[in-house]
Amino acid sequence: MSEPRLRAEGLACGYGRGLPDVLTDVDLTVESGEVLALLGPNGSGKTTLLRTLARLLPPRAGSVRVDGEDAWRRGRAWTHRRVAIALQDDPQGSRLTVDEVVRLGRAAHRGWWLPMTHDDGAVVDRVLERTRLAAMRDRPVDRLSAGEWQRVVLAQALAQEPRVLLLDEPTAHLDWNFQSEILELVDHLARDQGLAVVVSLHDLNQASTWADRIALLAEGRLLAIGEPDAVLTADILGRAYRCPVLVDRHPLTGTPMVLPTPRTRRPNEPVRMP
Ligand SMILES: Nc1ncnc2c1ncn2[C@@H]1O[C@H](COP(=O)(O)OP(=O)(O)OP(=O)(O)O)[C@@H](O)[C@H]1O
Ligand SMILES: [Mg+2]
Repeated sequence: MSEPRLRAEGLACGYGRGLPDVLTDVDLTVESGEVLALLGPNGSGKTTLLRTLARLLPPRAGSVRVDGEDAWRRGRAWTHRRVAIALQDDPQGSRLTVDEVVRLGRAAHRGWWLPMTHDDGAVVDRVLERTRLAAMRDRPVDRLSAGEWQRVVLAQALAQEPRVLLLDEPTAHLDWNFQSEILELVDHLARDQGLAVVVSLHDLNQASTWADRIALLAEGRLLAIGEPDAVLTADILGRAYRCPVLVDRHPLTGTPMVLPTPRTRRPNEPVRMP
């Protein structure tokens, strides 16, 4: 049997000497064409895991394999030609334009020192169209809205033409329409181009709608992994998020839908007119 596109085995992640592990014993695989949603409360380690999978943060134990090869052993350049990550860092006063930031994504293949080829330019044009940024390609990135910047970060990752795409909360600042559009785009990239996608999300219902499988982080480990039906249960979610939830079904798709339940119900007072 062929190796999964991405495999984490016995992975422990964390920062700096003396600090405890953020996550231990993470085992997961992502196949080509699959979208895995990463869920978990604030501070549960979603960003840390994504950074470790992208080879930005060395694993404290275990390994990250891409197409069967150990990413840490193969080196940074090798990994960056295959694995792209879109993080939530802000533009920090950069004077680069949208176009220039997206072009930086091509450096994974070309190196920093060689000029862009015609093919590189075609990839950048295509990516700017797909992320609806073509009309603002000459704008400095420090003058974008948070949602526009978020699409630039995704576009830069796509310009890398990766096999594995890691996205950290790509819908955080997007309006309702762009949220769906970005997740539809991610879905197409997985189905049509065979990318393996790991996407961290806070919206449980987005995960239920768009992910093939869900990995739920809590208590310093992978608390549950599986299809949305298996992971999005009131029991598992109540334990992970420490709050009561109600799980129902989407009326059209039948996928689990999670509804918040108030901890304390207000008495149903009649409305008094002045
Ligand atoms: N650079 C760092 N140095 C030390 N500890 C860090 C660092 N970055 C994050 N942490 C700690 O690691 C833990 C996991 O953080 P992480 O950012 O991965 O969580 P998260 O699940 O992405 O949270 P959120 O939903 O808020 O984005 C937290 O306890 C956090 O304080
Ligand atoms: Mg995070």
